[in-house]
Amino acid sequence: MNTPFSEVLQLRMSRRATLGALSALGASTLLARWLRADYAPQAADWSSFEPLPHAADPNMAVAKGFRAQVLLAAGDPLLPKAPAYRAGVADAAAQAMQFGTHNDFIAFLPLPRGSRSSDHGLLCVNHEYSDLAMLFPRPEGACDKDNATREEIQHELAAQGHSVVEIRRVEGSWQVVRESPRNRRLTALTPMRFSGPVAGHERLRTKADPEGRRVLGTFDCCSGGTTPWGTVLIGEENVNKRFQGEPVEGPEKRNHKRMDCGSELEYGWHRFHERFQLAKEPREPNRYGWVVEFDPYDPQSVPIKRTALGRFKHEGATTTLDASGRVVVYMGDDDEFEFLYRFVSRESYDANQPERNARLLDEGTLSVARFEADGSVRWLPLVHGTAPLDASSGFASQADVLIEARSAATLLGATPMDRPEDVEAHPTSGRVYVMLTNNRLREQPNTANPRVRNLHGHVLELIPPTGATGGHAHAADVFRWEILLQGGPPESGREAGLWLSCPDNCTFDPSGRLWISTDGMARNEFCDGLFAVELTGEQRGTPRLFFRAPIGAEVCGPCFTPDGSTLFLSVQHPGDSDAKGSYKGIHYNNPPTRFPDFDPAIPPRSSVVAIQRG
Ligand code: FEO
Ligand code: CA
Ligand code: CA
Ligand code: CA
Repeated sequence: MNTPFSEVLQLRMSRRATLGALSALGASTLLARWLRADYAPQAADWSSFEPLPHAADPNMAVAKGFRAQVLLAAGDPLLPKAPAYRAGVADAAAQAMQFGTHNDFIAFLPLPRGSRSSDHGLLCVNHEYSDLAMLFPRPEGACDKDNATREEIQHELAAQGHSVVEIRRVEGSWQVVRESPRNRRLTALTPMRFSGPVAGHERLRTKADPEGRRVLGTFDCCSGGTTPWGTVLIGEENVNKRFQGEPVEGPEKRNHKRMDCGSELEYGWHRFHERFQLAKEPREPNRYGWVVEFDPYDPQSVPIKRTALGRFKHEGATTTLDASGRVVVYMGDDDEFEFLYRFVSRESYDANQPERNARLLDEGTLSVARFEADGSVRWLPLVHGTAPLDASSGFASQADVLIEARSAATLLGATPMDRPEDVEAHPTSGRVYVMLTNNRLREQPNTANPRVRNLHGHVLELIPPTGATGGHAHAADVFRWEILLQGGPPESGREAGLWLSCPDNCTFDPSGRLWISTDGMARNEFCDGLFAVELTGEQRGTPRLFFRAPIGAEVCGPCFTPDGSTLFLSVQHPGDSDAKGSYKGIHYNNPPTRFPDFDPAIPPRSSVVAIQRG
């Protein structure tokens, strides 16, 4: 496990597979049948562009030959009675009807349902967090968690969660369909329910929910995914930052320590809501840190926390199909030295059985990855009753294993990673790409995380075996793996947009090219961006900068329409820090950019951007 970095790098980087042969492998699989419709004709050539130079600029930039349109910004009205955006005003009721803050994951789901429409659809967008210093003005300094008013905190709860927005392309420009009955907000107060092995368990029971089956809301909704049956998956990530107090003695102490509950408090919600105080409601944190599934086509649908997928700091949850038809969900736990997970459903997906599909994520096997120096990666099942996941280690049932998935994974010998963010399976080659954003705390390298003090991150490529009758065996126990690329500037050509740092989210364009968005270029004094990365040929593994965010922002949520004619992405937290990544002295009245409004009366706002040719 401790092979020197130089040897490991040589080992991994030299084992380049012949990708040309791989496209044939997927042709006979269910996965290919499902995806072929999405990845058929190309409406735009996304490969032919001159890379942008790296720079730090108050405005966004996109490669020549393309145009970028700001479609939605935090606070824009969505629901029929939503008032117009008012800068700096705390109004929780208004915010609950408006687009939320800090947009991250984006999915485009065509309208009508089941079609391949690329002119009309539902944009499903996560809202990751809120920033009081940039939401509300103070005469001096910044609004923060300790001086925020009740209404300001309530506004934050309403700004969290998810937005469903009907959009339409009219004469080449995207428009929000205001007052659509399909528009919807999920917030930190929306009623939801639990399903799967942990639903109803005593460790979910609280004063407000004595049965452990109902829960108010979702928050810290980072990345996510969609399913073959048209639902959206939301990853609940840094939920621990909402909970105040030291982990108290008792059955939850180990659990809360491992999830950093109490030690990383960043919000003031506990001041007005007892459930965020560990001393008052020690089980409340167990109700967050899950994957939430909901049906965006049904505005009345009740979102469901799918406990079979485990509880940790979920970056996202992306699905593919195993050669057998079972649903496979890949998930990263974005923290230093945490793990890469995979869920495999017990039953198979069947497009003709929607009611059965609605339960697919409740039964199956959660596994965690252990990387070996011989180029293999083994998936270790998190199943209660098999040593050491039994009473001797404090796990009385599968519910305990799922609630404390991190501790269970450690006991199994999973490989501690450099902050796993997005994980996506390629639609035709079946290879799985893992964004490892960085890990400045790493002193001890391991085979899949070979750099000490990894400031720039890297991308792994996992290669599932071929199934018995063809296709990709995503449910197999053992895959192979390689390093696709490592982040960081080259010794020369720093400004050339041919390298990246801190990979975060990814997607594939209609040609199967990988697109990677970044969150951390500021440590190089450049803005974050979206990069195209070839997976085959001479340029394999070389990023090319296509879109550059304004100062302070990360780029996330890249998503193509089915025909590939539009690329949506999130510009998150513009202007919250300066060109060097420092937050010092930056607040509502003193931001380094006022993107996208550039109005001195309006603070910078996170936005959804639509990019097309022309
Ligand atoms: Fe919310 Fe891991 O980024
Ligand atoms: Ca992220
Ligand atoms: Ca993605
Ligand atoms: Ca990130």
